[in-house]
Amino acid sequence: MPGVSSGFETVDGVLHAERVPLPAIAAAVGTPAYVYCANTIRERFRRLDEAFAGIPHHIHFAVKANSNLHVLRVLQSLGAGVDIVSGGELYRALEAGFRGTDVVFSGVGKTVDEIAHALEAGVQLINVESEAELVVIDMVAGQKGVKAPIAIRVNPEVTVETPHEYIKTGEKGQKFGIPRDDVARLCDVIRDLPNVELRGLGMHLGSQIGNADPLRDALPRLLSAIAYARQAGHPVAFMDVGGGLSVPYESHEAPADIEDYARVVRAAVQEAGLTLLLEPGRYLVAESGVLLTRVLYRKHAAGKDFVVTDSGMSDLIRPALYHAYHGIEAVSATSGSITADVVGPICESGDFFAKDRVLPDVKAGDLLCVRTAGAYGFTMASNYNSRPRPAEVLVDGERFAVAGAREQLDDLVRLERAPLQWRTA
Ligand SMILES: Cc1ncc(COP(=O)(O)O)c(C=O)c1O
Repeated sequence: MPGVSSGFETVDGVLHAERVPLPAIAAAVGTPAYVYCANTIRERFRRLDEAFAGIPHHIHFAVKANSNLHVLRVLQSLGAGVDIVSGGELYRALEAGFRGTDVVFSGVGKTVDEIAHALEAGVQLINVESEAELVVIDMVAGQKGVKAPIAIRVNPEVTVETPHEYIKTGEKGQKFGIPRDDVARLCDVIRDLPNVELRGLGMHLGSQIGNADPLRDALPRLLSAIAYARQAGHPVAFMDVGGGLSVPYESHEAPADIEDYARVVRAAVQEAGLTLLLEPGRYLVAESGVLLTRVLYRKHAAGKDFVVTDSGMSDLIRPALYHAYHGIEAVSATSGSITADVVGPICESGDFFAKDRVLPDVKAGDLLCVRTAGAYGFTMASNYNSRPRPAEVLVDGERFAVAGAREQLDDLVRLERAPLQWRTA
C-alpha cells in the first residue's frame, strides 16, 4: 500500500533497513539488536498530523511504546509532545529535549515525588485517575505554591475489541480513569480545591483497536462530561482521545484507517471547540522497528522442529505476554521451507517468538528478523535469566548508529556490588 512502507525491504535477496543491509548492522553491533527506521517514524507522524490538519491538535507520543532517547528526539524534531506514565519517562523526555509544556502525565498510580517533579517541570496536564490522587495533586501543588493543570481521565465504559484483554482500558471495571457516572461529582470536588485547575478531559480506550467503533461509542460520553465541566465553570481547553491506533502484525491485517479515525474525532473536537490531544504510541513506532537475532541451533524433538535463537522473551515479551503474533523473516534469501517453533534460550516454556510457523529453511548462524517490534519491544525488555538487554540501532537513509549500547555483564551486577550495610529497625 503506498505510503505505509515499514522501511524494511528486500534488495537483491537481503533485507535492508532503509538503505542499510541488516547483515552489516549485525556485523557491526552484534545480535540481538533492535533496529529502528527513522524515516518510518517520520512518515507515520506526518500522516497522523496531516489527518488532523486545520483543527488545533497536538500529538503526544506515548513514551511507554519506545523510550529510546534518539527515537524521542526524532519525534521531538517533528513537533511532537509526549504522554508519560512515570517519573522515569519524564526524566527521559526532558533529557531528549522536550519541554515541560510538551508533556501530558497519565497513569493510575503517580507518587508524590512524581507529581512534584511534574509540577516543577511545568507539564501541560496531569491526567487524574482517582479522587484520592486528585487530593494528593492538590496538596503537592499547594506545597509548591502553584496551580496544577489537570485533566480528568474519563472511563467511558464502552465495549472495546482488542486482540488481548490486557490491552483494553476503557471498559467497565478497569482500573483506569474515572467511571463516567462519577465525573460530574469529581468536577464539583475540583471546584472546591484551591491548587488545581481543570484544563481538560480525556480518555484512552485501549491499544491495538482495529476500527473507530469504540471511539464512536465513547466520544459522546466524553463530550457530555466536557459539557458538564464547562457548565460548572471549569476552564476546559483540551480534549484528549488517548492512543490505541492499531498496526498490522500479520500480513492479512489492514493498517489503521487513519482517515476514518480522524473523521470521527474531528467531528467531536469541532463540536467541543477545544484543542485536541492525541497519545499514539504503537502507531508511530511499531512498524519502524525489528528485532534482529541469530539462529543458534536447529533442534528436532518429539516430531517437531525448533529454531533456537540468541534472543528470547527477555528481549521481546509480547508473544509470551499477549500471545502476540510477530512476522519472522530470514534476513538473507534461503531456499526451502520448514514448519518450526522459533524459541529463545530462556528457561520458560513461554519463551517463544512463534509456534508452528512456516519459515525459510534457516541454519545455525543465519540472521532472523522479528518484525513490528518497534513498540513495546525494548521498553518491556528485562534482565530475566541475567541476560544483558540488547543494543538499539537507529537507521536514517544510508546511515546507522548505535542509539542504545548493548548492556554488558557488569551492568547486571553493578547495583549489587556494594557490601551489605546492615541496619536494624
Ligand atoms: C494513557 C495511554 N495513552 C496512550 C497509550 C498508547 O497506546 P498505543 O500504543 O496503543 O497508541 C497508552 C498505552 O497503554 C496509554 O495507557
